Formats: sequence, C-alpha cells, structure tokens
Amino acid sequence: MASVTVDNVRKSYVNFEVLHGIDIEIQDGEFVILVGPSGCGKSTLLRMIAGLEDISSGTVAIGSKVVNNVAPKERDIAMVFQSYALYPHLTVEANMGFSLRLAKAPKSEISRRVKEAAQILGLETLLDRYPRNLSGGQRQRVAMGRAIVRQPQVFLFDEPLSNLDAKLRVQMRSEIKQLHQRLKTTIVYVTHDQIEAMTMADRIVVMRDGYVEQIGSPLELYDRPSNLFVAGFIGSPGMNFIPGTVLDALQPAFRSESGLVLPLPTGIPVTPGQALIVGIRPEHIGVRQGDIEAIVELIEPTGAETQITFRLGGTPVIASVRERFDKHPGEKVLLQMDLSAVHVFDAKTGARLEA
Ligand SMILES: Nc1ncnc2c1ncn2[C@@H]1O[C@H](COP(=O)(O)OP(=O)(O)O)[C@@H](O)[C@H]1O
Ligand SMILES: [Mg+2]
Repeated sequence: MASVTVDNVRKSYVNFEVLHGIDIEIQDGEFVILVGPSGCGKSTLLRMIAGLEDISSGTVAIGSKVVNNVAPKERDIAMVFQSYALYPHLTVEANMGFSLRLAKAPKSEISRRVKEAAQILGLETLLDRYPRNLSGGQRQRVAMGRAIVRQPQVFLFDEPLSNLDAKLRVQMRSEIKQLHQRLKTTIVYVTHDQIEAMTMADRIVVMRDGYVEQIGSPLELYDRPSNLFVAGFIGSPGMNFIPGTVLDALQPAFRSESGLVLPLPTGIPVTPGQALIVGIRPEHIGVRQGDIEAIVELIEPTGAETQITFRLGGTPVIASVRERFDKHPGEKVLLQMDLSAVHVFDAKTGARLEA
C-alpha cells in the first residue's frame, strides 16, 4: 500500500490546457473518488497517475517516490477500465494470472494468488470459463480479479461500473467497498456518478473543467458544499436554489425574486442589496403546517419516499418526503423550510457564505 501525492499537476494537449494545477494528497489505504461531469479531466488525471499520459508540469508521487519518469509497469499499480479488456481466448484463470505469468512468477505462486482472488470475488466456479460465457457482472469481477492478483500498492479504477445495468451497479458498489475494507489497498476511482462517489469513497474530489472544486468526506461535501457547483452536483434530487437579494434590515434577511422572505443566519457576511442564492435540500422542506405558500406541480412517488415539485413564486422547488402525500397537481400547500439547514451562496462568485 502507498500514499499518492498529486502536486500542482497540469496537463496540456498541444497548446490546450485541460488540467490547471491539481493538488490532491491521498493517504495510504484511502479510497478516494474523483467525480465530476464528463470531460472535466478525471481520466486524464488517473492516466497520469498510472503513467499512461505525460505530466506537463507538477509531480505525481507514489509513496515517497516521484514517478513522473517511471514507466507504468514499474509503478506497482493496477488499473481497471470501463471496458474490461479481457483476453477473449483465455479462460478466467488465465486472464487473472496473465500479468504474473508475464512477470515470470512461479506457477505455484500464480495458482495460489489466482485462487485467493477468485475466492474473494466469488469466481471459484468460473475459473475454466471464457469471457464470452460470462455475464457483464462476472466479467467485471474478472477484471478486478486480474488487478487484485497483482497485489499492487494502488488500485486505479476508471468508471468500472458504467457498462453494468442499474441493479448490478448497486451490487458491485457494495462489493468494491467491501473489497477495500478487506484489502485496505489505496484506491483512486473515477466516476461521473455522484451516488457512486457518495456511497463508496472515504474522500471525494469534485472536479470541474480541469480544476478541483472541493475535497472532503461524502458528508462534508453534502452538508457544507463550498460553492454552488458542488452544492448542485452532490445529492439527488439536487439542492433547490432560490435566487434573491439581501434585505436592508436590522436582522440579516433574504428576499427571493418571487417575494419570499427568509431570515439569514446571524453573523453571515452579507451586505444589503447583495445578490444571493439560497440553497435548501429537498429533505429539508416539509409539506405540512408551514407558512410558505406554493402550488403542487408534479408528484413522483418512489415508494419509500415521494418527490414533489412545487412552484414557489416563479421558482420550482423539490421536496422529498417520507410520508404519503394526498394533494394533487394545481392544489395549494403551505410549505415549511428548516432554516437551520439553509445554505447561502454569493450569486456572483458562487462561493458559500457562512458565519
Ligand atoms: N488525447 C487528447 N487530445 C486532446 N484532448 C484530449 C485528449 N484526451 C482528452 N482530451 C480532452 O481533455 C479533457 C478531459 O478529458 P477526460 O480526462 O477524458 O475527461 P473525463 O474523464 O473527466 O470525462 C476533455 O476536454 C478532452 O476532450
Ligand atoms: Mg473519463
């Protein structure tokens, strides 16, 4: 196992910069997920850690060793891609042992390590099969088995679950997390799916357009997003955003464009007239005994909870409630907002404001 340190790393293709100075310190044994919209530079960064892309400037270190000029196979990492890239003409066993055979490990050692990995992944009965005779989930497991067999210092995963159907994705999510709990090997994992990031990671790195927006534990990002981008990206359904301005009043208060007035936390650094976005998560809006008038627009039951879209003045807001909801679209309701759970952002900079 090893730490991974990314220090002021930049990447340019010809004269186009796609990563603009990335700093990430990954602890030994940590499970870190790089998440962000497609094209933000996640794969590029992962491939630089793997040694598959040149580093334009800055350094990547694995353990205490800077690896900028170390060949991929000397980095003691194992990578799992979205396309499992199994050898179709080799059995599961041969696929899993391939890299050890290449490294000329003794036969008994290869067989022992393949069996061990197969046991961890529940592949013992499939060792003689060919990839074409496996389901998507089983192929995925073989690709992971191939990585595990190498007992690397660091696992690198690039969207390994994207090709699986929704149900299998959820199952593999827990399997990978359990695998990490068992092996305790450092993992750097790339996904565009914030739920994957939230459910699996020790820490999440949120990226956008080649920059790191925020690094933190899943709940740190959820509870205290440092800007509007992270606030909107983490959480599903997403945080509601209500635009408005700071009122000129004794106590700090907010007035939305539709006339909704809310008190702001005391000590928050705002000035009268300042444009704000107030954020509130769907679970912090109650649909009973409130005093905020809204019209029901859409009701989406999921079983355990119901998501309800309301129109609040001109702004749509979504509430997520666990109780059954008996109103219909077009009806008026009185909403309640948990003001202790409100997030405040500067509308111009997008930065979180707090006392
Ligand atoms: N070989 C390349 N040449 C030029 N641009 C590239 C190359 N590879 C990736 N890019 C660009 O770099 C940016 C980041 O890509 P990528 O790391 O694949 O994003 P992500 O994995 O987050 O979807 C994108 O704008 C992409 O078009
Ligand atoms: Mg990618």
